[in-house]
Amino acid sequence: MTRRELRIGLFGYGCVGRGLHDVLESSNGIKAEIVRICVKDKTKERRLPMSFFTFDKNDILNDCSINLVVELINDPDEAFEIVRQAMQNGKSVVTANKVMVASHLNELVDLQHKHNVALLYEASAGASIPIIRNLEEYYDNELLHSLRGILNGTTNYILTLMHSEGRDFAAALHEAQEKGFAESDPALDIEGWDAKYKLCIITAHAYGMFLDPDEVFHYGISHISRHDIRYAKEKGYKIKLVPYVGKTDDNTITCFVLPRFVSPDKYLYNVDYENNGVITEAAFAEKQFFAGKGAGGHPTGSAVLSDISANSYGYRYEYKKNIHDTIRNFTRDHHIEIYLRYHNEKDRDQFSFSEVSEFYNNHIYRYIIGTVNLKDLYDIRNKLGSMSIFIASTGRKILRV
Ligand code: HSE
Repeated sequence: MTRRELRIGLFGYGCVGRGLHDVLESSNGIKAEIVRICVKDKTKERRLPMSFFTFDKNDILNDCSINLVVELINDPDEAFEIVRQAMQNGKSVVTANKVMVASHLNELVDLQHKHNVALLYEASAGASIPIIRNLEEYYDNELLHSLRGILNGTTNYILTLMHSEGRDFAAALHEAQEKGFAESDPALDIEGWDAKYKLCIITAHAYGMFLDPDEVFHYGISHISRHDIRYAKEKGYKIKLVPYVGKTDDNTITCFVLPRFVSPDKYLYNVDYENNGVITEAAFAEKQFFAGKGAGGHPTGSAVLSDISANSYGYRYEYKKNIHDTIRNFTRDHHIEIYLRYHNEKDRDQFSFSEVSEFYNNHIYRYIIGTVNLKDLYDIRNKLGSMSIFIASTGRKILRV
């Protein structure tokens, strides 16, 4: 197979952009060179000569000698404009922008077909873990029962420090920001948005369904307290933020993001700090576990490099599962068991528990464990942020409701 030589136009030179540059410099086998870098800030000191940089996106988009655009900027709307224009100009694109990919997947797939170019985004979910290409190429969606994991490095870092070192939330978040794991707006991490966008991308390649992220329930860790950590520790659990997608019948899936109690016998229990982990459960193959660094310049840069290399061999996603369309429905009518820590009775009354297995009430700490329907949680999603509560899935299977 011939390998084309790549002349790369790079957008963004932040943590991941610099990480990619380092990784590319250390990889001798790849015939790829960054020839131009488009950045926003004219005043920032750069570690490369200024002749590499431009502040005008058209210097890359209209340069016929550049045959691959690598998009690593923060702003998803600007990123979409760049990616769209690049593809319209006949350039393949590699991106790590999960918000942009998850929010525009249908249009991005159409653009790839229309302009006969590739868009690759392995770094957008799970950073260094090669999960998208594996799902795309290896797993048949009829046999894949479910996928769950840890897909956000920042929240996992915070939860690890709170659990193992007794650190408080704000200090742990600050440390995750200092290390370059968090998004510019960390609400995206701690409220569970980031994990949800990644889950939607993964669902597209696991099951061929392009979900609208707004349709998927998510709840993060921004309201977690020392009571919740103490409860988990007393039971021998850790709390992790766990996105889940799975089949409810032959052609229907359900999908959500919730904190979850994880016991020591589970693979995810030992996935700590900024590491991510993904568990697939499939007929015959049974359980499989992928783990690796889920955030940071070099791990994310390594996934971008892998896409660059794949592109040099002409690789592109075929979206076979979307075309064959065996999974046709998405449902939120799905029962899960949750732990709800609350303060006010009126907040608790917003939740319709169908079965309660545990209940505790003193003047400073109250919780209830019981079964709820995901569709009811989704219906009250906009009120949850203003309630003095924390929700976690117990992870127990609901046998009957
Ligand atoms: N903020 C993201 C995380 C970066 O913490 O996982 C990697 O996508």
